[in-house]
Amino acid sequence: MTLIDELPIEGRKTLMRVDFNCPLKDGRVADDSRIRAALPTIQHALDRGTSLILVSHLGRPKGQPNEALSLAPVGERLAELLDKEVLLTDQPIGETATRLSKELRDGQIVLLENIRFHPGETKNDEHLSRHLAALADCYINDAFGTAHRAHSSTAGVAQHIRDKAAGFLIAKEVKALERVLDSHRLGFVAVLGGAKVSDKIAVIENLLARVERILIGGAMAYTFLAAQGHKIGASRIEEEHLPTAKRIMELAAQRGVHIGLPVDHVAATEFSSDASRRVIESPDIPPELMGLDIGPKTAAAYASVLQSARTVFWNGPMGVFEFPQFARGTQVVADAVAECPGWTVVGGGDSVRAVVEGGFSDEIDHISTGGGASLEFMEGRELPGLRALGIRREE
Ligand code: 3PG
Repeated sequence: MTLIDELPIEGRKTLMRVDFNCPLKDGRVADDSRIRAALPTIQHALDRGTSLILVSHLGRPKGQPNEALSLAPVGERLAELLDKEVLLTDQPIGETATRLSKELRDGQIVLLENIRFHPGETKNDEHLSRHLAALADCYINDAFGTAHRAHSSTAGVAQHIRDKAAGFLIAKEVKALERVLDSHRLGFVAVLGGAKVSDKIAVIENLLARVERILIGGAMAYTFLAAQGHKIGASRIEEEHLPTAKRIMELAAQRGVHIGLPVDHVAATEFSSDASRRVIESPDIPPELMGLDIGPKTAAAYASVLQSARTVFWNGPMGVFEFPQFARGTQVVADAVAECPGWTVVGGGDSVRAVVEGGFSDEIDHISTGGGASLEFMEGRELPGLRALGIRREE
């Protein structure tokens, strides 16, 4: 992998893809961690007198301009963090973008408006890729969170620009996730949660050859329990994936991988923020109730496994984390991952939020800025954004 510090960017125009897909609230950036994560690469370029053309997406505007998804608040936050002016174009490409890029002087920054306002971006359109490449002399990609998308600004553009490299964030993410995948099987524990088994099948299949244990929580656990013949009441399951869950458990048994499933639950009569919680001290759930969190015994058992793990990869909440009465299981796991002395990596929205809100960020070895991207990496897939930079994983 060529890193930004190996590329002669001094005094040159550089197109930099970043992932500034940040949550907004009342017209302001509500969580700037993705902007902060890109700062070392941006600062490195600025320190070398590079003029920067930053490209990012925000949300999914489906190829149409959408005021609510303008990068203006992101540009303002970046300007505050850098204490420097950040120009913003009115459209991702067009007359203003071309003119501002041309007139840009060393050390200046222009942020192109949300690249997904252009219909060609998500289609990896050749014309758009060429146009982006023509704006600059070099290309840096530091958008790990979007590296699993084969889009113009993450993949196509790299074919039309010779001098290209990865930023420090991509390098850090790849190193951290590779360390997980290359870990010794003994003591390697994956904690997987979230709503759907279907989102996690590929990652479970890849991990079965690598881990000692997989601890399962979230709504996906009910599909596994149902596949084992347990009664799961009114809990959400994916009927069509019952055979998949069965197959995964058989494969795990053949490989000697222990699959941890809830032995108790926190349940309610309805999925609602004011539903009252009931602890069910059995893996079976009564017909009128739905499971909404792992129970206290399960949480304690998972925490005890994590205590002695050598490597932990965690993606997905253990319950309905957004409702406080069903957040406990996720919080206990966050605490346990933070206390684990091994190599710990957390990826994915709610699991990252649990770690941050619990005040455990400093205790985790690596918090990935890419939920989908880190999961696809753990599936063993080649990410298009990394492939475009010539980054290949060697088994
Ligand atoms: C993310 O938030 O996971 C990345 O920014 C990618 O966004 P996307 O799922 O809309 O492609």
